[in-house]
Amino acid sequence: MKITKICCIGAGYVGGPTMAVIAQKCPHIQVTVVDLNSERIAAWNDDDVNNIPIYEPGLSAVVQEARGRNLFFSTDVEKAIDEAQVIFISVNTPTKTYGKGKGMAADLKYIELCARQIAKVAKDNKIVVEKSTLPVRTAEAIKSILDNTGNGVQFQILSNPEFLAEGTAVSDLMHPDRILIGGDTTEEGQKAIQALVDVYANWVQPENILTTNVWSSELSKLTANAFLAQRISSINALSELCEKTGADVNEVAKAIGMDSRIGSKFLKASVGFGGSCFQKDILNLVYIAKSYGLNEVADYWEQVIIMNDHQKRRFSNRIVQTLYNTVADKKIAFLGWAFKKDTNDTRESAAIYVANDLINEEANIVVYDPKVALKKILSDLDYLETREAVSNAKHITSFPDAYSTCENAHAIAILTEWDEFKTYDWQKIYDSMQKPAFIFDGRNILDGEKLKEIGFIYQAIGS
Ligand code: NAD
Ligand code: UDX
Repeated sequence: MKITKICCIGAGYVGGPTMAVIAQKCPHIQVTVVDLNSERIAAWNDDDVNNIPIYEPGLSAVVQEARGRNLFFSTDVEKAIDEAQVIFISVNTPTKTYGKGKGMAADLKYIELCARQIAKVAKDNKIVVEKSTLPVRTAEAIKSILDNTGNGVQFQILSNPEFLAEGTAVSDLMHPDRILIGGDTTEEGQKAIQALVDVYANWVQPENILTTNVWSSELSKLTANAFLAQRISSINALSELCEKTGADVNEVAKAIGMDSRIGSKFLKASVGFGGSCFQKDILNLVYIAKSYGLNEVADYWEQVIIMNDHQKRRFSNRIVQTLYNTVADKKIAFLGWAFKKDTNDTRESAAIYVANDLINEEANIVVYDPKVALKKILSDLDYLETREAVSNAKHITSFPDAYSTCENAHAIAILTEWDEFKTYDWQKIYDSMQKPAFIFDGRNILDGEKLKEIGFIYQAIGS
């Protein structure tokens, strides 16, 4: 089957960039991205391509090139499903906040809604692709919904998890380490796999396109995120030991990373990992393991989360302790709010938890993040439901530049590793602060020796 019409349900951080790149690389395929959120769709369609809802380096140029040619954004979900041969499901799969599995299991209500809508609308055979990250064996549930429509339409379900990281989404999509496609072992299943392989083969080398059974593909995505996050928790665990012993975690990371069996990536000690994926996917893995009675497996992976929570709390505790055990009414400047650089995404950002701890201690926080506005910062804090929204608004604000953010501050905390922070005139910042002037570098990005020469009291992670 030659694919000429694709639809993607969900125009978020994955659906938007992924479909934009497919459309750019495959001008012969019409790609329609749909979402229930009309504001988000309007932003994707904004005349000024700089106003698209997701900030990713290089994304606006890709959208500019393909939008209106073979890339479309729409709220008409049914029409897009009806017309497409392949339907990607790229909706959110957050941790459940209610009922059985609350706080651990993946909430699959949006996935089920998509399946029901596809079942209702489809009049001819379709390939349904799981692009969202899903618990292993979700394809079974989707298939059961789709096969019970009674209208004779045949569905093939493929698992095609997305491995892009935010901040580098466009380059990850253009040069993926691998594309993973899982499908049925039947003849029809293999044909569906081939149809999707042919789409990716427009720009990905065949040896980088891996095909497996559905369950291996679903589980590989959770496993990849668990392994990546585990490396961060491992190095962060060692960062605490470094602080006690005089070892330097950057030196330790370099020394172990040069062992080719270990490798140098994902060994950067930090204030803790954030983002919408790692915590959610590991909790999901833990829940699945528990549901099969595999308690030791569950405990093993849960420790990655426990360590990460500890690392965030340790950072805020260290600030309070160093500032003479009180931050009440002190001004703490936060540089960065996003969960990593080069994204406007703040989901599960360590900054939210550190701010929450410091507000518990009655600190006044002023934030500067190049891509995050105050409205988002407040809604992130309010979402924790620690205190009234008015109280959050009283304790946190933001300024549009770093210099005014740091003026009169008692301390600066670096929460995101934005490159521009390294280029500041730190003498000027020092001169404008309360003394002694403290810097807590939660990302180990600044030159500590230089800052100490200026007069700062500088504390990094793991040294
Ligand atoms: P997101 O919240 O940014 O986007 C999801 C979109 O789906 C939202 O705009 C929402 O309005 C829409 N939606 C929900 N239900 C819908 C429905 N029934 N019909 C139409 N639209 C609907 O989420 P995201 O970050 O793009 O993540 C999507 C999936 O991809 C998740 O399963 C996630 O785990 C996975 N994933 C995310 C990343 C990442 O870096 N963000 C990377 C790999 C995989
Ligand atoms: C992650 C996976 O990397 C990606 O493959 C998957 O598709 C989605 O989840 P993402 O969450 O977008 O991507 O960003 P990532 O680069 O993995 O960073 C996650 C968090 O870990 C960030 O808060 C980052 O700052 C932190 N991190 C990363 C570290 O603290 N140290 C590191 O060495 C690497």
